[in-house]
Amino acid sequence: MAGRIPQEFLDQLLSRVDLVEIVNSRTPLRRAGREFMACCPFHAEKTPSFSVSPSKQFYHCFGCGAHGNAIGFLMDYERLEFLDAVEELARHAGLEVPHASGGGDSSRTLLERVAQADRFFRQQLRAHPARQRAVDYLRQRGLTGQIASVFGIGYAPPGWENLCRALRGDGVPSEDLLAAGLASRDEQGQLRDRFRDRIIFPIRDRRGRVIAFGGRALASDTTPKYLNSPETPLFHKGSELYGLYEARAHNRALPRLIVVEGYMDVVALAQHGVGYAVATLGTATTAEHIERLFRVVNELVFCFDGDRAGRVAGWRALDVTLPFLRDGRQVGFLFLPEGEDPDTLIRREGQAAFEQRLEQSTPLADYLFAELRGQTDPETLAGRARLAELARPLLEKLPDGHFRDLMAERLRREAGLSATRLRPPPAAARRPDHNPRLIRTPLRKAIALLLYRPELAQQTMVNDSTLLDRGEPGFKLLAELIEILRDRPQLSVAALLERYRDTPEGAILERLAAWEPEAPAEGFQFDAEFADILTYLRRRDDPRERLPEILLRRGAPSALSAEEREALRNLGKPQKI
Ligand code: UTP
Ligand code: MN
Repeated sequence: MAGRIPQEFLDQLLSRVDLVEIVNSRTPLRRAGREFMACCPFHAEKTPSFSVSPSKQFYHCFGCGAHGNAIGFLMDYERLEFLDAVEELARHAGLEVPHASGGGDSSRTLLERVAQADRFFRQQLRAHPARQRAVDYLRQRGLTGQIASVFGIGYAPPGWENLCRALRGDGVPSEDLLAAGLASRDEQGQLRDRFRDRIIFPIRDRRGRVIAFGGRALASDTTPKYLNSPETPLFHKGSELYGLYEARAHNRALPRLIVVEGYMDVVALAQHGVGYAVATLGTATTAEHIERLFRVVNELVFCFDGDRAGRVAGWRALDVTLPFLRDGRQVGFLFLPEGEDPDTLIRREGQAAFEQRLEQSTPLADYLFAELRGQTDPETLAGRARLAELARPLLEKLPDGHFRDLMAERLRREAGLSATRLRPPPAAARRPDHNPRLIRTPLRKAIALLLYRPELAQQTMVNDSTLLDRGEPGFKLLAELIEILRDRPQLSVAALLERYRDTPEGAILERLAAWEPEAPAEGFQFDAEFADILTYLRRRDDPRERLPEILLRRGAPSALSAEEREALRNLGKPQKI
């Protein structure tokens, strides 16, 4: 994702904006020495432990471990996705974001083509001779013109080349129609409209731009009943959600979102006052969906048909959701009566009754244990053991936090165990404040110094093979950092770290960037310290420098200085970073 925007632009952007200003306009900062402090906006606290470094352009909270640069701050504070945070900062700095390398122009063209098609479909609903069928259909499904216009519903008339002819007439090349997923070629090579005699639901991206369409057949015997645009450079089914843009645009505050299965469900719910539903596009719920949804709200209710397929889809949704259940997030499941979907139900019962059902949706914990109890026999020892066995891998997907602890506790109760052992959560999902302290190894000290004083890179020999040819991850990273900084002496730490966004190295670097150097006394020689550490690292594995080891073999470790003992401890231990 980050790779889609040129590195040069991110460098320029991060050097143009001032993190202090960005943060201060949202959370007032107070100066404290060389840094600025505030009460952390990411966790509740009474004494400030959130610090912003103007020189590093980096923030760090000593309380909860939150940290990052200006892009990260906007992502977390405004709940933006990466590209949106970049856009927002660029607007602030008066810069234009260059789009996807190479593909930039072509995706802009495709967006324009899809927008043209969107205008065409909406126009047909107003003006085509056969429009009355479509209008009647929408009316018979209980939709008003007002809600149809909120969702931009349109009509693709019967016939093989309505859209193609109209757009070709406007000078659109056939290739564009094919690439935008609006047309295909038949055996004779003729251009054919993809959508014919269908109600058209435009699918918008998170900025409201139409990127694809879903089409509902008007005739009851047409298959498939729903037809989507194919995957295109603009449209990836597994990450888009129908109705998300509309829900955000039409609600000032969005406390929760409902996830349903169909386009019509989303529109019908909005028609009856429940304007906060989204639908996956004929695919199962994916991790990408969940991630996007939790950027918008903390509460999700999954709404599925009560039939077997609905149960399967529900369980699958539970499974993908588990890794995202940080404390403070909430998930409910609502299985509808047999034969009903949200559309039929809300039309019959109305808003209040439907929202009542939402209130009473099954919390994820209850759903999970109820399903497992249904598969085992909790009356017998073997059944309870089986329950624990089935539950454990699921609970292990949960990120670290109180919810995870409570679920483990509940498993103990349900299975009648005195203890359960869960393997620790995956590192990425761990809460920052649960990370153990990083031990100050010489290698990490060198990197931390470099992040504290990037100009130190200028005094280092990059081509020093004794330092770089180790094949150990930490050394490679150190060498890489030195090389980048020598290449671009003006780079801020924030911009340096941006290169490592979402990588394991990035996670370590962010924490090292928060270290204070150990002896920041007036006149402290950072360059001498840095050179000393590098010399030490260079020599560490040199056979001629193995004195401490030799001493140890002689059985005289107490003859070693503290420094030598430290060197000894680190000998032969590959330095993991
Ligand atoms: P359903 O078959 O449950 O239809 O499909 P529905 O939403 O109740 O539609 P109406 O009420 O008959 O109009 C649910 C979703 O599955 C996808 C669509 O996204 C649809 O909204 N689907 C369904 C397809 O992609 N293709 C199909 O042929 C059918
Ligand atoms: Mn339906």
